[in-house]
Amino acid sequence: MILNNRRIRKCKLVKFMTSCLLLSVVMICWEHLDSVVVSHVKSYSFRYLVNSFSYINRSLTIPREQARSFSDFPYLLDHPDKCTGEDVLLLVFVKSFPENTERRNAIRSTWGNETYIQNTLGVTVKVVFALGSLRTKRQNSSGRFQKLLVKEDRLHGDLIQKNFLDSFHNLTLKLLLQFHWMHSRCAHARFFMTADDDVFVHMPNLVAYLQELSSRGVTDFWVGRVHVGAPPIRKKDSKYYVSYEMYQWSSYPDYTAGAGYVISSDVANKIYHATLTLNASIYIDDVFMGICANAVNVSPQTHNYFSGEGKAPYHPCIYEQMMTSHGHVEDIHELWRAATHPEVKQSSSGLFGRLYCAAVRTFLLCTPRFADTYPCKAAFLK
Ligand SMILES: *[C@@H]1O[C@H](CO)[C@@H](O)[C@H](O)[C@H]1NC(C)=O
Ligand SMILES: *[C@@H]1O[C@H](CO)[C@@H](O)[C@H](O)[C@H]1NC(C)=O
Ligand SMILES: *[C@@H]1O[C@H](CO)[C@@H](O)[C@H](O)[C@H]1NC(C)=O
Ligand SMILES: *[C@@H]1O[C@H](CO)[C@@H](O)[C@H](O)[C@H]1NC(C)=O
Ligand SMILES: *[C@@H]1O[C@H](CO)[C@@H](O)[C@H](O)[C@H]1NC(C)=O
Repeated sequence: MILNNRRIRKCKLVKFMTSCLLLSVVMICWEHLDSVVVSHVKSYSFRYLVNSFSYINRSLTIPREQARSFSDFPYLLDHPDKCTGEDVLLLVFVKSFPENTERRNAIRSTWGNETYIQNTLGVTVKVVFALGSLRTKRQNSSGRFQKLLVKEDRLHGDLIQKNFLDSFHNLTLKLLLQFHWMHSRCAHARFFMTADDDVFVHMPNLVAYLQELSSRGVTDFWVGRVHVGAPPIRKKDSKYYVSYEMYQWSSYPDYTAGAGYVISSDVANKIYHATLTLNASIYIDDVFMGICANAVNVSPQTHNYFSGEGKAPYHPCIYEQMMTSHGHVEDIHELWRAATHPEVKQSSSGLFGRLYCAAVRTFLLCTPRFADTYPCKAAFLK
């Protein structure tokens, strides 16, 4: 036993030393190369060597009273009874800026139409929009624009708004708003989804997928486009710049792209509890989600048909499988019509249809393109 342990330790040491050596060689040779490459190499090596992020958890843990300051903003708009007494399969939180009324209307009349989903898919899905308060001083909580929001909310009953400034750098506060709202208002929903307001969700495909998971009683579930070992960006002019004071390590815990991901209700509950003791000042919300999940031992899994930054190619053979696609604003109505058309299922049915679609998907996904859309392997696997 002792000998064995010693051998393992020795082995680990050798692994560590070679990795260090390799790393230093790489670092020295690549000094003049693109810093992006270096930071990724650093990040992957870091992840491979350390492969445990418990020290992040430890160093970001703060007293509860202090953690509360990130979430105790008062509600400006709320719907405490949105889920009451209903068997909710999925609660979708769409992150939206107050002024994006048109995007919200587009979602309400396409993939986020609760009535349509209930009537055609036979399940209850709730879609709400998470908002902060308005971004200019003139448009305060009693201003004209807020009145328009109140009016919009009276019409649709789906805005959840808290009194913090809605900005890119406050997205983590919005994440906390979501988890706290879920916990107190809709904890019995079986799945939760977070999505951007320019994401297209293929609701029939997603519902079928979640129903199957639900029937198997899946837990510990977190799915989306996973970023593995992503490095913090240290370039000051980047939108995603993170200082060493904010995050000192060279790699983030794995997380899913914020454009759209789904978790099961047990995970939502665990994340909620993690937010009660973590310092939420890191403002990249999907990274913070990764930090919370890491603190409660939940890891994300990839689904090939959840998109990252890119738009999915327009084709029935893609629609047949797609879950989410990012960057749709003007085309959302057209895409919804096309993607839910009965013809989509026909084009891929039978042996010929399957072969045809495999060929089309290979062509669309495996030829080099610069958009971050579905990976090549999605052409062959689900
Ligand atoms: C939602 O769908 C229902 C039923 O299909 C339809 O009557 C209603 O007009 C739709 N709502 C919007 C906002 O498009
Ligand atoms: C909000 O703005 C209006 C003018 O647009 C101003 O009269 C009012 O005092 C402001 N209220 C607050 C709470 O700042
Ligand atoms: C975040 O919201 C708070 C509360 O409204 C505000 O004081 C702060 O300036 C906002 N931060 C950013 C970066 O917008
Ligand atoms: C949270 O982290 C920030 C740095 O990102 C730090 O300035 C702040 O003091 C921390 N908050 C607490 C309560 O420790
Ligand atoms: C993270 O920290 C909390 C509180 O300090 C602790 O309960 C939890 O077990 C930690 N998680 C991991 C994965 O170390």
